[in-house]
Amino acid sequence: MKFFVDTADIAEIRELAAAGVIDGVTTNPSLIAKTGRPIRDVIKEICDAIEGPVSAEVTAIEFDRMLVEGERLASIAANVAVKVPSTWDGFRACRALSERGLKVNVTLCFSANQALLAAKAGAAYISPFVGRLDDLGLDGMEVVREIRAISNNDPSFNTEILASSIRTPLHVKQAAMAGADIATVPPGVLRNLAKHPLTDKGLASFLADWGKTGQEIV
Ligand code: E4P
Repeated sequence: MKFFVDTADIAEIRELAAAGVIDGVTTNPSLIAKTGRPIRDVIKEICDAIEGPVSAEVTAIEFDRMLVEGERLASIAANVAVKVPSTWDGFRACRALSERGLKVNVTLCFSANQALLAAKAGAAYISPFVGRLDDLGLDGMEVVREIRAISNNDPSFNTEILASSIRTPLHVKQAAMAGADIATVPPGVLRNLAKHPLTDKGLASFLADWGKTGQEIV
């Protein structure tokens, strides 16, 4: 499973890219708004910092306007993936933008049927939102499992499953086990994947024992 980082924080992206743990970046209007900076500048900087795809989302809700915004976002850099919502106009825009050779990420997906429409519309990525379904007391990961099963059954389903709205390390593990192609993960959750108290405890006791020997490796 590939990892994207779900943030518009350029310092975090640079650090995680240098560590070699991320294959791409996803942003959304809320994440861009948090930076307080113009979207073009933020997306350009992110695209310069990482080779992989960088999702930038349209804010229009009507088809014609989505196309204009999608083209504008895609003109920022070659690795921009245009994000459109899982709405009727979004699926139409996905089809039109994909036919123009752009990568489209269909976002705000909450059902397998929306994923089917996205794949039919030529989406490069479908983003089922796990955490937001969990917030309602539902099993968000079930949608990822359903989309995986559909994709496995259907050779014409050429859309990568991008597990989104990932909130915990458990979500990351479950997404991988459900067969997601990619998980987009907030920086804090990504760092938490490395943590285990037994690792810290074991390291402390190894170092204490080593200190008693007085040896140095180099
Ligand atoms: C995905 O592309 C979205 O930006 C993101 O995963 C949304 O996550 P949230 O539900 O935690 O806001």
